[in-house]
Amino acid sequence: MATLTILTYPDEFLSQTAKPVENIDGAIQNMIEDMSSTMYKAPGVGLAAIQVGFDQSIIVYDISSSDENRSLHVLINPKIISSEGTTISESEGCLSVPDYRSDVKRSDFILVEGFDRKEKPLRIEAHGHLAVVLQHEIDHLNGILFIDRISTLKRGLYKRRIKKMLTKK
Ligand code: NI
Repeated sequence: MATLTILTYPDEFLSQTAKPVENIDGAIQNMIEDMSSTMYKAPGVGLAAIQVGFDQSIIVYDISSSDENRSLHVLINPKIISSEGTTISESEGCLSVPDYRSDVKRSDFILVEGFDRKEKPLRIEAHGHLAVVLQHEIDHLNGILFIDRISTLKRGLYKRRIKKMLTKK
């Protein structure tokens, strides 16, 4: 298993749209292994293939609270079928947006369809935290970062901070 490099804003690859996986073959299985170990090492609760420079529709996530009861989930070609209500995610963060957190308006409930790594169709009814994590990761597959969903003012402040940091280097 390899630890992959996580792309960070303003890397332009992060605004790419992922392509649907057509064949869950050995290369995809390897990518899933590498994505999982990269996510746990970071550590993060979710990772989308786009974040590691791979334009395929794959996400991995694990919202268990401790290392002892790890529960890895793999979702291939996920699609949000329906969504209801609104919730505010409290201080959402992202491995691709270092040193920044913000509240984000999200749907409170979503119905997601996709496949697991054995090509078994999945249908997930997600509420609360899981719903937020899935919306965040599925956004990545559509080239959207959580900072694209906050106010223009807040986003502007973050972008200026990053620009400053990059020109100092
Ligand atoms: Ni993220």
